Amino acid sequence: MTQRICFLGRGGSGKSTVAQNISHALARKGYRVLLIGNDISLSSTLLLRGEADIAPALEDYREHYEIDLNDYILPTASGVYCLELGSIDPGVGCLARGVSLIDEMLDTQGVTARLRLDFILYDISGETPCTGYILPIRDGVMQRCVIVTNGSFASVTTANSILQAVLRASGKERFPVQLIVNNASCGDTKDELASYARRATIEILASIDYSRELEYSSLAGRTVFDTAPESICAAHLEAVADDLLLPTIPTRLTPFPRRELIVWLRGWQQRELARRLAVAQREARDG
Ligand SMILES: Nc1ncnc2c1ncn2[C@@H]1O[C@H](COP(=O)(O)OP(=O)(O)OP(=O)(O)O)[C@@H](O)[C@H]1O
Ligand SMILES: [Mg+2]
Repeated sequence: MTQRICFLGRGGSGKSTVAQNISHALARKGYRVLLIGNDISLSSTLLLRGEADIAPALEDYREHYEIDLNDYILPTASGVYCLELGSIDPGVGCLARGVSLIDEMLDTQGVTARLRLDFILYDISGETPCTGYILPIRDGVMQRCVIVTNGSFASVTTANSILQAVLRASGKERFPVQLIVNNASCGDTKDELASYARRATIEILASIDYSRELEYSSLAGRTVFDTAPESICAAHLEAVADDLLLPTIPTRLTPFPRRELIVWLRGWQQRELARRLAVAQREARDG
């Protein structure tokens, strides 16, 4: 059975970087993976396909009403298959039905069976000006959601909104949602995120630190498995892929109500300020 997982989170939190590197890690383990992106810049698959062009399937579908998805799926040297949906024109329409529609076509046009896919990973862009992830969750397309957060106040606010949306859309109190803490600035931030995750009852799937190898590989348009396969970062991402293979236990989602979120964020900001002042005082004292 093909498992569908969507990666969600605020723009710039690292969804595409993480999803592409994890896809590559899964392919190296012998799993058959399709990565689907919907970014307007077609950047969800860039690190895997390099210079190869890719046609945005949903944009063509809107024009022709009939497409053969097999023509849009790009096999890559990494072993990962890539599909870009493209996006909507800013200010026009809504992407929500698009993801479900393409997902249906993957089955009806025999793509899932032909490629014998173990995983379909969806990288849902934070730039999409509508809730493109809601309908696929409501319709039961997604079996699992992974929210990527980089530990900024804003990305936690987004994570909480996504959690509220998932809870509403899935129609279930329990749904497998996990958090990936990516590129968080320091240990204290990770502690704050751990406290959020406990209270919202979501599991932290992984914590991925800032990695120069990861940053440089992205700038080079490759994954870390291409540019630094022996690095600590590559080994860690392999381990994250292993963790993704473990079954999830759906927990009872408890996103913060808005008022509580505001109070909690305020508390975090005050603790952050106190920590920074303490560091500054120590530095002044020690010269
Ligand atoms: N752990 C990390 N270490 C170093 N750099 C990172 C890390 N994670 C992400 N980055 C860098 O952060 C930038 C933003 O990441 P990315 O494009 O994956 O974000 P995104 O969530 O997909 O954004 P969008 O929603 O706009 O598509 C990229 O330049 C990427 O290389
Ligand atoms: Mg992206």
